Amino acid sequence: MTSGGSFFITTPIYYPSDVPHIGHGYTTVAVDTLARWHRQAGDDTWMLTGTDEHGQKMMRAAAANGVSPQEWVDRLVGEAWFPLLKTLDVANDDFIRTTQERHEKGVQAFIQAIYERGHIYAGEYEALYCVGCEEFKPESEIVDGTGAFEGLKVCAIHSKPLELLHEKNYFFRLSAFADQLLELYRERPDFVQPESARNEVVAFVQQGLKDLSISRSAFDWGIPVPWDPSHVIYVWVDALLNYATAIGYGSDEASFERRWPGHHVVGKDILRFHAVIWPAMLMAAGLEVPRGVFAHGWLLVGGEKMSKSKATGIAPETLVKTFGSDAYRFYFLSAIAFGQDGSFSWEDMLARYHAELANGFGNLASRSIAMTAKYFDGSAPEPGEYADADLAVQRIVADAAANADAAIERFRTDEAIHAIWTIVDALNGYITESEPWVLAKDDAQRERLATVLYTCLEGLRALAVLLSPVMPESTRKLWTALGAEEALGALTAQDVRDAGRWGQLPAGATASKLAPLFPRIEDE
Ligand code: ME8
Ligand code: MG
Repeated sequence: MTSGGSFFITTPIYYPSDVPHIGHGYTTVAVDTLARWHRQAGDDTWMLTGTDEHGQKMMRAAAANGVSPQEWVDRLVGEAWFPLLKTLDVANDDFIRTTQERHEKGVQAFIQAIYERGHIYAGEYEALYCVGCEEFKPESEIVDGTGAFEGLKVCAIHSKPLELLHEKNYFFRLSAFADQLLELYRERPDFVQPESARNEVVAFVQQGLKDLSISRSAFDWGIPVPWDPSHVIYVWVDALLNYATAIGYGSDEASFERRWPGHHVVGKDILRFHAVIWPAMLMAAGLEVPRGVFAHGWLLVGGEKMSKSKATGIAPETLVKTFGSDAYRFYFLSAIAFGQDGSFSWEDMLARYHAELANGFGNLASRSIAMTAKYFDGSAPEPGEYADADLAVQRIVADAAANADAAIERFRTDEAIHAIWTIVDALNGYITESEPWVLAKDDAQRERLATVLYTCLEGLRALAVLLSPVMPESTRKLWTALGAEEALGALTAQDVRDAGRWGQLPAGATASKLAPLFPRIEDE
């Protein structure tokens, strides 16, 4: 990827019917890490997240709490969803709320445009609706209820009864786009990632598509249909359009031109909306389809998809309070293959925290800086002639940087971190073998000691740059302690695609004391 190109990336916009859990946190930190990487590579980056505030689910949550829908979303967004971004150290460029005027106007302009292009018609409809999904369910996701719901049809995802709705609705001619969509998946095999998600989408579209009901008239918590205000626009159509309205569709064409098309990262629960309905809507409007849709897997708790509706939700703050935001980000992004399901457990997180962060990375940083203080008065020494062991470290750093960038291009944050971790492991092994504490006892080995310590410090320089998108807080501390801030400028200004080039930290850079980056945690 060339530096300077546009890189627009989004999270789903979440329902603030309830507070966030670690599933929402997962998608958000993944997207933030991808965005930080591209930003640090000099790409014209824009990261968008936000909240999806209309629809029946929201109306019911508000009613259950005795307030209006607007009061409910204002409260939840203010008290829980904005703070989530701080808790997880997310550097989003924008936050869209679907109740904002910029969004409502853009949605109406879009719907009017595809109406005028002949893609919408009025019709009658009767089908089973899941309020949890905010979707008329396809046959494949309708199952027989059990227990309290014996005899009822329930949603396969939410295990809650479906509601039979009969309404006069407006329909989008989705069926007309099946061939064009199949052509898109064929021409651009990486449009939907990973492969398993792509296969699922292709199989779904190959069965043929039904037209989509895009308005509701039984309630009014939504954006009015411009030519018939007795209807509100279906919440999913409203929500998908956030990706366009947030960057200026309908209000700032220059900005829209600059950013669009973008990349969408979503959980696999909402893959079809993003990989089928959304590109078809864009085709209908004569706009470019997204650059791609990446569907990650589910966080499982006790073998089931973690969710608020099933009361298995874990609040992100609970983990951040104990482990810190960097460890949270590191854990979810490295322990789970991005694109596959992964089980969360406290024990696993604690074990990886100690093995990889406290003992692996943290200890490497502490002892390298402590030895620089002890043997060279805190000043990065001038390396002497490089030996094979030093050159091997340099090669590992160069390969790790290149492999990490390639993994990020595939949206594989887990593979990127594993590539970067080869540097941590190599340097720890290198210190054990080089025994700088032995070299320090022999004046004749002074130059060798300098080379060994410079190799450690310069390796840490590369680690700080490469890990900064994943762990912005601890790498900033390390950067300062290396004296790199003074010698090389701000950490976030370091080109991540140039991180593997050896010899950037100048000799003489002044190291300063570093408190443990990842203090040990006593298990309660
Ligand atoms: O679907 N594991 O919002 P939502 C992993 N408003 N990720 C999870 C997860 C889990 N157990 N649970 C939730 C909506 N997520 C719509 C989206 S977009 C135009 C509209 C994450 O609040 C994952 O990203 O139900 C999933 O797709 C999203 O939260 C669903 O959030
Ligand atoms: Mg959901």
